Amino acid sequence: MKKALIVYHSKTGTTRLLGEEIRDFFSKNQIESKAVSTKEFDHLDLVTSDFVLFGCWTKGLLICRQHPDKEWIDFIKNIPDLSGKKLGLFATYKIATGSMFNNMKKCLNGSSDNVLISLKSRNGHLSANNNQELLSFINK
Ligand SMILES: Cc1cc2nc3c(=O)[nH]c(=O)nc-3n(C[C@H](O)[C@H](O)[C@H](O)COP(=O)(O)O)c2cc1C
Repeated sequence: MKKALIVYHSKTGTTRLLGEEIRDFFSKNQIESKAVSTKEFDHLDLVTSDFVLFGCWTKGLLICRQHPDKEWIDFIKNIPDLSGKKLGLFATYKIATGSMFNNMKKCLNGSSDNVLISLKSRNGHLSANNNQELLSFINK
């Protein structure tokens, strides 16, 4: 059975909810999955996972200069080798994600080419469109 690891950084719970909905989507599609916060992250889960998704809330000036917040950047920069993993990013936001995903990718160093999905949600719930995106990610 394939495995998915979803790691979220959330301040007020919306990104956690999105991470948990992504986890449930994988489980429904026969992929063993686990959603954890950046603080709960366990390196062993990473090693054994085929799909790894990292999520953060959008920080910026609402319509421009969006970026992940410092805690997420510090977390992701210390993540070891991600080669061979199918990677995904997700973010929650209020107005616009703008440069959020590009800035998230920059933190992945050499692994940004492995990012096959950038999924966004305003309320933490998966839309029908998000479900389609995830399905094609699983099948890539
Ligand atoms: C300091 C701060 C800056 C934010 N900047 C943006 C922004 O630039 N664009 C946007 O759409 N939402 C912005 N937001 C809204 C959050 O990204 C949004 O509410 C997010 O879902 C919060 O996630 P969380 O509940 O997981 O903490 C900002 C929120 C805060 C507190």
